[in-house]
Amino acid sequence: MMTASNRPLRRRATAFAPASLSNLGPGFDALGCAIEGYGDQVEVRLRDDGRLNVSFDEASSVYGLPTGVAENTAVHAVDWVFRHFGWTGGADVLIRKGIRPGSGLGSSSASAVAGMAAAAHLFAPMKESDRVEAVLAGESIASGSRHGDNVLPTLFGGMVSVSPTNPTVYRHVTTPPGLHLAVLFPDVQILTKQARAILPKSVPLSLAAQNWSALAFLVSAWQAGDWDVVGRMIMEDQIVEPVRASLLPCYGAVKQAALDAGALGCALSGSGPSMFSVCDTALAAQRLADVMLEACNDLGIGGISFASAPNMTGVRAQAIMSE
Ligand code: HSE
Repeated sequence: MMTASNRPLRRRATAFAPASLSNLGPGFDALGCAIEGYGDQVEVRLRDDGRLNVSFDEASSVYGLPTGVAENTAVHAVDWVFRHFGWTGGADVLIRKGIRPGSGLGSSSASAVAGMAAAAHLFAPMKESDRVEAVLAGESIASGSRHGDNVLPTLFGGMVSVSPTNPTVYRHVTTPPGLHLAVLFPDVQILTKQARAILPKSVPLSLAAQNWSALAFLVSAWQAGDWDVVGRMIMEDQIVEPVRASLLPCYGAVKQAALDAGALGCALSGSGPSMFSVCDTALAAQRLADVMLEACNDLGIGGISFASAPNMTGVRAQAIMSE
């Protein structure tokens, strides 16, 4: 039953959610940062007949993504919000994928966050903890479990550290200005499930100690804006990235080319295939984006690359006046 507090305030809204880098080297499942350049957009328009119609724009329809509440991260998050407010009138949901699925740049997370934010914008403001629950529920559709390392940075912007076992526990990590990034998305398919299945179930204490030391240095250097140390620390993962590198034929060549060209550091984003370099100027990031793509192309592998920087705003929603 609709009450005054859960009655829609608006009928139509759209939201844009940015891409994100996760892990950042030693921070497996524990660290992520929203980035500029690409993102997903979801528009929600209320109906009154109880139907939930889901569609994609022309560019996104080529991905063949599912549309069901139980399979689509955006739709799942929209449905979560509707159930939260007791809305049973249904809606038209239009998804515009700016981030290609399977890129390692938080594509499914961006859809979940944009879906949540667009739907939530139609009702009274939701508590932060409810917004977090909605996006974690949406994201879990893609990965099979609740991970916060892409979805939370995309929601809030900037860098977020998160508990891998309880992603409702998180902290914002201050990101001072001056960080620039070069991102390469090679045309190589890496399934996250496969990239997780090959990881060791247990690790020697000495390797774990190196990883948590690197992670501590990474977070403190990040907060201090010491990008030189950040660059070195993203390459200190001893446990996950060395195993996953075998899934990406251009990994070694791209990393070497990036370091030779002056990158402060270079690592995988999430489970890949995307890789990113840390730079301290926008010019260097643009040059590194070119260098990384060239190294990838030299091995006969296509891809795209772009200069980027941390996205500090997170998801943005706005109402649409027209009916
Ligand atoms: N932290 C996750 C992983 C991100 O590395 O598997 C998936 O992109």
